[in-house]
Amino acid sequence: MKKIGCALLSVLLLSSCGKPADKDDKIKIGVSVYDSYDTFIGEMMIDFNASVAGNENITVEVYNAAKSQQTQNKQMQEMIENGCDVICINLVDRTSPKKIIDLAKKYNVPVVFFNRELVEEDLFQWEELYYVGADAAESGVIQGEIAANLFESGEADKNGDGIIQYIVLEGEAGHQDAIVRTERSVDTLIEKGYSVDKIASAIANWSRSQAQTRMAGFIDSYGNEIELVLGNNDDMALGAIDAYKAAGIEKDAWPVILGVDGTGAGLQAILNEEMSGTVFNDQKGQATAMADLAIALATGGSLNELNLKNGRYIRVPYSRITLENVKDYLD
Ligand code: GAL
Repeated sequence: MKKIGCALLSVLLLSSCGKPADKDDKIKIGVSVYDSYDTFIGEMMIDFNASVAGNENITVEVYNAAKSQQTQNKQMQEMIENGCDVICINLVDRTSPKKIIDLAKKYNVPVVFFNRELVEEDLFQWEELYYVGADAAESGVIQGEIAANLFESGEADKNGDGIIQYIVLEGEAGHQDAIVRTERSVDTLIEKGYSVDKIASAIANWSRSQAQTRMAGFIDSYGNEIELVLGNNDDMALGAIDAYKAAGIEKDAWPVILGVDGTGAGLQAILNEEMSGTVFNDQKGQATAMADLAIALATGGSLNELNLKNGRYIRVPYSRITLENVKDYLD
């Protein structure tokens, strides 16, 4: 079991393991992320660390589950043994939270799940389970609206047939954000009166390099037929851009490429007019909400001001980013 040793943790006060927290004034928060190499999660953790960094009474232990639910289950046990007062879990397998929930109940430690949403039935298995994330459907609708606007003038319809020929680069199989974003963005285009034709789709697991490989194959097979690339996240949209660059195709001949997240690299690609838009997945808003909730749970503070939906959910809104407003999101 390995704690993340990368730069994003440098601001953390890593506690010495095995020492129970002093309940009088000190609190210890345990966090396990599904994969510390995920760009969005990495940026979210930087914001999380920053939001607790000034408080000397808080220590944070962060673990990388490295895409293994079994590893994450062991980390849960370890965080409990280390005296964590509250534990934040970015589930590896959102359909397998049983072990985590059983341990939470057994040792009476509240859990804040984040980003990878378990089903409601699981969340309500015990009263000290919470979820912080966003509404996946909202991101799909916003991405569809951005696409609809960009196709309004007719210029992006390369072959002028009145139909949008598109490719989808999907996140993980079974991930709520992948399934719902894909569905809602295409539905939104259709609801806005566009005819669409799906050329192909590929699962690229949120990964820039996997998306580049898949997109290179699509460029070979479909070339100039592709008018729109819907990336379920920015990293995969950036992978598509990498593929166009590697194929030596001039920017003017690229399709409309859209992402979701608003990561640093994603925003830069919009500024460079390589990516036409993205949907801001407010990492700072989610990180701050998670920190506020975790601290309130660890200290027995009031949850009233956190406006939990159904007493358990915090959902931070998405917003639209294009060239017109990208500067507002760049610090
Ligand atoms: C999504 C995000 C992706 C990836 C994924 C991991 O919300 O858009 O980039 O980080 O979560 O669960």
